[in-house]
Amino acid sequence: MVQNKKLVQWVDEMAALCKPEKVHWCDGSDEEFNQMVKLLIQGGTGVKLNDKKRPNSFLFRSDPKDVARVEDRTFICSERKEDAGPTNNWMDPNEMKKKLTGLFDGSMVGRNLYVIPFSMGPLGSKISQIGVELTDSPYVVINMKIMTRMGKEVLEVLKDGAFVPCLHSVGYPLDGGKKDITWPCNETKYIVHFPEDKSIWSYGSGYGGNALLGKKCFSLRIASLMARDEGWLAEHMLILGITSPEGKKLYFAAAFPSACGKTNLAMLQPSLPGWKIETVGDDIAWMKFGSDGRLYAINPEYGFFGVAPGTSMQSNPNALLTLNENALFTNTALTDDGDIWWEGMTDEKPKHLIDWKGNDWTPDKDYPSSHPNSRFTAYAKQCPVIDPDWENPEGVPISAIIFGGRRASFIPLVYEAFNWQHGTFIGSTQSSETTAAAAHQVGQLRNDPFAMLAFCGYNMGDYFAHWLKIGKSVSADKLPKVFCANWFRKSADGKFLWPGYGENIRVLKWMFERVEGKNNFAESPIGNIPGEGALDVSSLGMPENEIQELFKIDKEAGMKEVERIREYYKIFGSDLPKELTEELNALEKRLK
Ligand code: OXD
Ligand code: MN
Repeated sequence: MVQNKKLVQWVDEMAALCKPEKVHWCDGSDEEFNQMVKLLIQGGTGVKLNDKKRPNSFLFRSDPKDVARVEDRTFICSERKEDAGPTNNWMDPNEMKKKLTGLFDGSMVGRNLYVIPFSMGPLGSKISQIGVELTDSPYVVINMKIMTRMGKEVLEVLKDGAFVPCLHSVGYPLDGGKKDITWPCNETKYIVHFPEDKSIWSYGSGYGGNALLGKKCFSLRIASLMARDEGWLAEHMLILGITSPEGKKLYFAAAFPSACGKTNLAMLQPSLPGWKIETVGDDIAWMKFGSDGRLYAINPEYGFFGVAPGTSMQSNPNALLTLNENALFTNTALTDDGDIWWEGMTDEKPKHLIDWKGNDWTPDKDYPSSHPNSRFTAYAKQCPVIDPDWENPEGVPISAIIFGGRRASFIPLVYEAFNWQHGTFIGSTQSSETTAAAAHQVGQLRNDPFAMLAFCGYNMGDYFAHWLKIGKSVSADKLPKVFCANWFRKSADGKFLWPGYGENIRVLKWMFERVEGKNNFAESPIGNIPGEGALDVSSLGMPENEIQELFKIDKEAGMKEVERIREYYKIFGSDLPKELTEELNALEKRLK
């Protein structure tokens, strides 16, 4: 018996609207997971992988038109358009509700409606939030089991409390005797957030962030609203623990745009002896002030939904080891011995594969075997370097925040903000060359402030102001130091200058030392960079001129950057906090 009357009433109402054949309340058990998997295999959506190679793991293939988040179909429907701001799509909430009610009417005919109670954050923790997703997709049910704490226990914690209602349909009713297809979805897609009633409606897509509503929709868009109102931060950030050879441990959080290596950094295997990295989260951080005035972070998720291509024993051994069992794969290739493969997994390509569209594939093909945004879903607890405190309901204290992006030129390998306000300025000016994580053209430079462009649930100008306010709410010595990192700088002939991956520990080491108060820095117009000899490049064999190139601040390029930012800032109009214009003017002056 479900005791939450509001929940029962909402489920009844939505069932009456969507008209499913049956309503199934998910208990989160393994039996239920197996039952869903069986359905998906019978329907041709998924295949079981070779149990000897990868126990209890499955591969799914989506519709080739449903492969990424659809940002142009994502809406923040606040009552006032200004509250959604210039970076979000907006529609009048009443109009949108009318439209969606029409679309959801009968959308689940011939299907089951699954009720998924889920907790973002450890069950029962003060920091955690509860949501309930209604979906007609068994694929969503099994992914939500890995990505969130879900099922019966959540209802026990929820009792009569508040929850975020999340309604999802793939939008492919089986009416008039229509036969099901392997990946049902709809050409019409809407990923909609209603800030005033803190609800989510998602229609037409079964893929990733469009459909697993606990992730981007709840933990970032809706949570950023809660954070604004309650004085905390909901951020698109990984969280890692870093331990020095002396045994001192700190925690860092880092915001990088989608598919810029957050998972790799979170699980980094250090090349420098004696250093250790442990993972708290790879995508989302909720940070609240502790009683000591410091920011404490939790990872609200329970698993990883990572980009597969490029993940290898060289680039991220800990991710691959996390995937040894109980893992789901979507849109990767299938090997002849029933395992998965993707571009970059091994140097040598298998001689034959079934590609992500289900066709024969051989290395002579001029297209990849896996979709560039193919994904793995795996339990965080299976990560060999999961942090012992990753489920600590109090969170972990954050000593540094890192902003980053994919920038071929100008932005140095690493620099440090002069203070929190300057750090907020750096976050607001973050930009990156686009990747395949969202449906848009790959490789274009786009502004992605705080890596939150696609994930901020309100006016980005107000979001900047919120960051500034957070910085004023405690004394400066309590706040994390802010850094900017760029692993992707290229030489004039187009080669990456920095080896990246495990070598990034060298950059983290410098940050660690700065947090510890070591004065090993030099001032530059854009921020503090490592001083002479301060970046540990021992045994890297990198020529001195390349190291210098990594930190070169070209004044002309700098002035262009200033102009780019000034132009970008215009979209915020009077919502842009004056402190950021001051920072931009100060940067321009320093560059001159
Ligand atoms: C993700 C993304 O899936 O940012 O994490 O696209
Ligand atoms: Mn992400």
